[in-house]
Amino acid sequence: MAGSSRSQIIQRKKRIQELIKSAYSSDKDNNYLSQFPTFQHYNNNNNNGLSVLLESGRGDKLSSSLKQYIQNLLKVNMEGPFGAEWPEEEKEKHREMSSPEALYIFVYNAPSTPDNVKASIIGFVHYRFTIEEEIPVLYVYELQLEPAYQGKGLGKFLMQLVEQIACKNSMGAVVLTVQKRNTSAIKFYLNKLRYNISAISPSKVYQLMGVVGEEKSYEILCKTFDHEAKAVLEESGST
Ligand SMILES: CC(C)(COP(=O)(O)OP(=O)(O)OC[C@H]1O[C@@H](n2cnc3c(N)ncnc32)[C@H](O)[C@@H]1OP(=O)(O)O)[C@@H](O)C(=O)NCCC(=O)NCCS
Repeated sequence: MAGSSRSQIIQRKKRIQELIKSAYSSDKDNNYLSQFPTFQHYNNNNNNGLSVLLESGRGDKLSSSLKQYIQNLLKVNMEGPFGAEWPEEEKEKHREMSSPEALYIFVYNAPSTPDNVKASIIGFVHYRFTIEEEIPVLYVYELQLEPAYQGKGLGKFLMQLVEQIACKNSMGAVVLTVQKRNTSAIKFYLNKLRYNISAISPSKVYQLMGVVGEEKSYEILCKTFDHEAKAVLEESGST
């Protein structure tokens, strides 16, 4: 922050930390998603009749069957895009999964037929409230849907929900990391959901620094909600 005094900087840091703390405590009652009543039930009657129920969760409170589910789905969806990096990445994801900072939205298929048909889990979002370049952000660690439930509008709906959660908690942006080899996810975020490659993404940082021949296997994408977040996270060269 050019021209800011030391005490202004300290105040700002404090304010951001308070925001993160309060975002986490807003999830304390296990009923967080009920703050978004219009998103509680999702019906797409036009083409597939899919109806889902959402449930919030935390990494340190996962049952062993949910942990197993997360690991299995990650393997199904992500082993391909990560290629040779998968074994290392799988370990990292395993560690991240149970963190107390990991917040979840679990998605259940709720068939409209009553009686003995049980809701079954079909995917999840793992997100956190964190700080990137001194901007409070909602970071999407995972968005994973079972293959049979992809392409039905659910991913878009969940990202819109996550954006609402970010805004409601005064975050400056939604940020996420995506593998370059995951071309369909890149298209989904950039073309359909209008995310941008962030100024903090390795490709942009190398470009700005004039580094040639260096490349990372991932991009960092973002959608910003205020001028400051936009200047820092979107506009290369302005930090
Ligand atoms: C990526 C993912 C979350 C997208 O969710 P989804 O439910 O399949 O996508 P949606 O049906 O909501 O698609 C929303 C829009 O994006 C488009 N889209 C989705 N996948 C696309 C693809 N592979 N290529 C081009 N467009 C795509 C859809 O056509 C739709 O456009 P429309 O609104 O004009 O109809 C989901 O496919 C998934 O779980 N993939 C595997 C895991 C993964 O890669 N996660 C992301 C890791 S960062």
